[in-house]
Amino acid sequence: MESKKIEPCTYVIFGATGNLSRRKLMPALYHLEAEGRLPAGTVILAISRREWSREAWIEEVRPMIEGQARGGLDEEVFARFAQRLQYLQGDLNDAQTYENIKNRLDNDETFPDNAAFYMALRPAEFGVVIEHLADHTLTNEEHGWRRVIIEKPFGYDLESAQILQKRLHRCLDEHQIYRIDHYLGKGTVQNILVFRFANVMMEPLWNRNYVDHVQITHSETLGIAGRADYYEGAGALRDMIQSHLLQLLTLVAMEPPASMDAESLRDEKVKVLKSIRPIPQSAVHAQSFRAQYSSGVVDGKKVNGYLEEEGVSQDSTTETYGAMKFYIDNWRWRGVPFYVRTGKRMAESKSAVSIRFKVPPQHLFRNTPVEKLKPDWLLMGIQPYECVRMEMQVKEPGLEMKTRTTSLDASFREEHENAYDAYEDLLLDVIEGDRTLFLRYDEVEWAWRVVDPVLRVWAMERDFIHTYPAGTWGPQETQRLFEKEDQFWRHSLLPDQG
Ligand code: BG6
Repeated sequence: MESKKIEPCTYVIFGATGNLSRRKLMPALYHLEAEGRLPAGTVILAISRREWSREAWIEEVRPMIEGQARGGLDEEVFARFAQRLQYLQGDLNDAQTYENIKNRLDNDETFPDNAAFYMALRPAEFGVVIEHLADHTLTNEEHGWRRVIIEKPFGYDLESAQILQKRLHRCLDEHQIYRIDHYLGKGTVQNILVFRFANVMMEPLWNRNYVDHVQITHSETLGIAGRADYYEGAGALRDMIQSHLLQLLTLVAMEPPASMDAESLRDEKVKVLKSIRPIPQSAVHAQSFRAQYSSGVVDGKKVNGYLEEEGVSQDSTTETYGAMKFYIDNWRWRGVPFYVRTGKRMAESKSAVSIRFKVPPQHLFRNTPVEKLKPDWLLMGIQPYECVRMEMQVKEPGLEMKTRTTSLDASFREEHENAYDAYEDLLLDVIEGDRTLFLRYDEVEWAWRVVDPVLRVWAMERDFIHTYPAGTWGPQETQRLFEKEDQFWRHSLLPDQG
């Protein structure tokens, strides 16, 4: 681990009145306050264009917390938290805003010199803000550390990511950049590493000799939730697969790192990304599938199709569902397909990794009522069901030789234990200077290399996209990605439910 010395800092939030800040950042910072994890003296400085006083801002923050605080808002904790809240009105494109920030950091003792600048902004704004910060020497670490947190997507394809990286490096050292992928802050995602590397039982099975295929799913019942301006240009492949789902894939597939420090871990993840077989243009259709939701019923309510969402263009072919098949050409995984899928407005909200093992090489029970051996599965529920479950075959009680599937449960969390939000972990890591769960640039670049050929083909094919009714598991046609007839999308984490 990198430096663990925890000093107070000024957490500067650009885009403080936006969606991310309301839904994730403010509640996470409040929870860190409740847990006593924010160093004494830490200040949270919100930057926004609106003309608000500090008091008005505090009243704005209250409902952001009320809806989401674990166990409800605690007035005492909120009072402590409110003392840290500061507000500065300013336009991102106006140099005066940065003069004002600098003035506070340099001359007002309330504001610690260490500063973390959180870009809760549209990706197009990252570069401009960071250049302004540098022009006003706000990235200068002479009197304390200065760190910049960048949300995904880092660029919108390989080339734009490379350009953004060059732009950032003119202003910042790599050690100052925290590229966030909030999936890595999820406890259940980190549990993949613990499950794999703190136990010896699975390792001998974790390879091409025993694994038939791997599935990674992230489905949501939500639509685009008013984010058309972003989503139209992104689509499911950029929004979820290039980032969160490829990260999950690296954790499932990587070799044990030399240690758990940030560099060793990231080295291993990059090795996986580099080993993914490049997808030639001619194989894009065989290895990828996209679709868009049409109107349908979600949780008993009629919902619009994607094309009827506000801000979406009538002839949009942006995918709200994306599925891909990857091969990792290394000793451990050669020949094992990794199927990855994600979708908005699906039947259920669920994230899981499902690993199907091969069936035993010899069917010893052939001459008994056990007609067909079922394969074993390992299921890792990421959310909302947090579980690790091993499905195995056992004999059914009775006089006949029949089998049934049972599951061994190694659940991640007991009911009385708190579920932490990923952002709590990550916001704290920034203060602690721990970059283990943040992305190194080469990871981002390699992830773009993996999906770039698909993006290019999809960008050219603008006259047709498959559709699926909202509230379903996506179009039947995605089945064509599977290599074998007995492979199918696993929707449920319960035995025998497919
Ligand atoms: C975000 C995507 O990064 O992740 C969203 O932009 C998606 O479209 C979200 O809904 C999913 O993350 P979570 O943690 O809410 O499941």
